Amino acid sequence: MNDVPNPFRDGLTRSDAPAPCVFVLFGATGDLTARKLVPALWQLVRGGLAPKQFFVLGVARRAKSDDEFRAEMRAAVDKFGRDRPADEAEWEAFAQRLGYCVCEFTQPAAYQALAQRLRGIDASHGTAGNRLYYLAVAPEFFEGITSSLHEAELIGPDQAGGWRRVVIEKPFGTDLASAARLSGHLHGLLTEDQIYRIDHYLGKETVQNLLTLRFGNAIFEPLWNRNHIEHVQITVAETEGIGRRGEFYDQTGALRDMVQNHMMQLLALVAMEPPVTWEAGAIRDEKAKVLRALPAWTPAQVASRVVRAQYTRGTLAGVEMPGFTEEAGIAPDSLTESYVAMRLTLDTWRWSGVPFYLRHGKRLPKRTTEIAIAFHQPPLSLFPPTVGRSGNTLVMRIQPDEGISLNFVAKVPGTRLTLQAVKMDFGYGSSFAQTSPEAYERLLLDAMLGDNTLFTREDEVASAWRFVDSVRAGLAEQPRDTMAGYAVGSWGPAAADALLDGDATWRRL
Ligand SMILES: NC(=O)c1ccc[n+]([C@@H]2O[C@H](COP(=O)([O-])OP(=O)(O)OC[C@H]3O[C@@H](n4cnc5c(N)ncnc54)[C@H](OP(=O)(O)O)[C@@H]3O)[C@@H](O)[C@H]2O)c1
Repeated sequence: MNDVPNPFRDGLTRSDAPAPCVFVLFGATGDLTARKLVPALWQLVRGGLAPKQFFVLGVARRAKSDDEFRAEMRAAVDKFGRDRPADEAEWEAFAQRLGYCVCEFTQPAAYQALAQRLRGIDASHGTAGNRLYYLAVAPEFFEGITSSLHEAELIGPDQAGGWRRVVIEKPFGTDLASAARLSGHLHGLLTEDQIYRIDHYLGKETVQNLLTLRFGNAIFEPLWNRNHIEHVQITVAETEGIGRRGEFYDQTGALRDMVQNHMMQLLALVAMEPPVTWEAGAIRDEKAKVLRALPAWTPAQVASRVVRAQYTRGTLAGVEMPGFTEEAGIAPDSLTESYVAMRLTLDTWRWSGVPFYLRHGKRLPKRTTEIAIAFHQPPLSLFPPTVGRSGNTLVMRIQPDEGISLNFVAKVPGTRLTLQAVKMDFGYGSSFAQTSPEAYERLLLDAMLGDNTLFTREDEVASAWRFVDSVRAGLAEQPRDTMAGYAVGSWGPAAADALLDGDATWRRL
């Protein structure tokens, strides 16, 4: 990957656009396509970042003409896009690069028609045989689609006739065994460098900025270890419930939906060692090492380190909402968690003994994702305990209101000695004039450029599953009454407080 222009390194506004290609979008009539993928592609074309010779071919089951597909995508961009088309001419220029191909995923013959359509696009749009296949489809189709693409000679090793890349949506497996099976299957058809396992958290501006903060400044890194850091808290809080995804969520739960992928990636970025170079392989090597340092837990360890819970009927933003097991699609006797909190440590020289507290839940009071680094207390307390506790915390806000703040204590003006927490604050919105690109914009562009820095590698996925599998196995052995409850609109079960060491508390957000 060394010779590939790296947008992570070079910034989004570069002159080197990706090579010509067709973006083949499986699942083109789905929710993700309308809400995220086509608006992101539109934004890349609009910003001059997509290749000049470029075509987006939507693929799904429903019969539809190119024009019908274009009209639907226009509605999607109007509704979900960051920028609306300035005028019809601007939209039309994009629409002429949009097309639709009917394909029943399970019918190998349909891929011949797809191959023919792609050859036609190469001829008419100069896309040079390069293909990025994006599988925005249910995971049960991942193997079948890639096998059929292979049989139709639409994927295989990169060759003079063009490069081939495949982007796989989450979830990548439902446990270690299924993830290994899927990776094994893909490796029979493609090299690891051609496989892009997407985790859209890695496309978020603040997540990338975490590495810039750590390795682009000299003041933080010397403090970034067990000598100075008391603990780390990673919070992913959602106000949403499970919506219409009840059946899916009941099979999945908070651990698999959020912890195995997004939270493990955040953990890896916070805890990784400096990479030897700023190249994809070097960065991913260091992330992978962190996840390898996370041992599988025994059921006894799970019992003392993990709290799981389900939300119960309560009020959020003034609206009364049902409990988790009252939601459509959730079994009344479900043992699926909508909240999980855990205390973990990493077996590394840098982090030995430092607790990392992770919590994620649905129907919490506020939608927020942040990483908070809590530094040690001063070694000697010069002030009487009544004047307030020192609380040096570096907080990286990932969404919404992206930014970074450093909390410390200051003396309140006046004749008395009273300490109060204050903060130095950096906000993306106030510091930079331009708005941040959507995570998918960055990631789709990277995939077109052949840069997989911000995609997860096989070994990272496997280590994260090994750990999460052990947690799930431990929880499965626990009696039913260990499933805690928390009212909708509260910050989770009281039992989660007991996970924290000493006088640390969960941050109030
Ligand atoms: N939605 C999100 O916000 C989101 C976020 C993160 C990850 N993801 C992941 O992205 C993937 C897609 O999610 P989604 O919400 O977009 O799904 P979705 O709305 O259910 O869309 C599924 C797509 O697959 C097509 N399809 C299903 N069966 C087919 C078949 N046998 N042959 C041909 N086409 C078929 C559907 O086409 P027809 O309409 O023609 O049937 C539709 O285009 C999933 O892996 C999901 O986990 C989604």
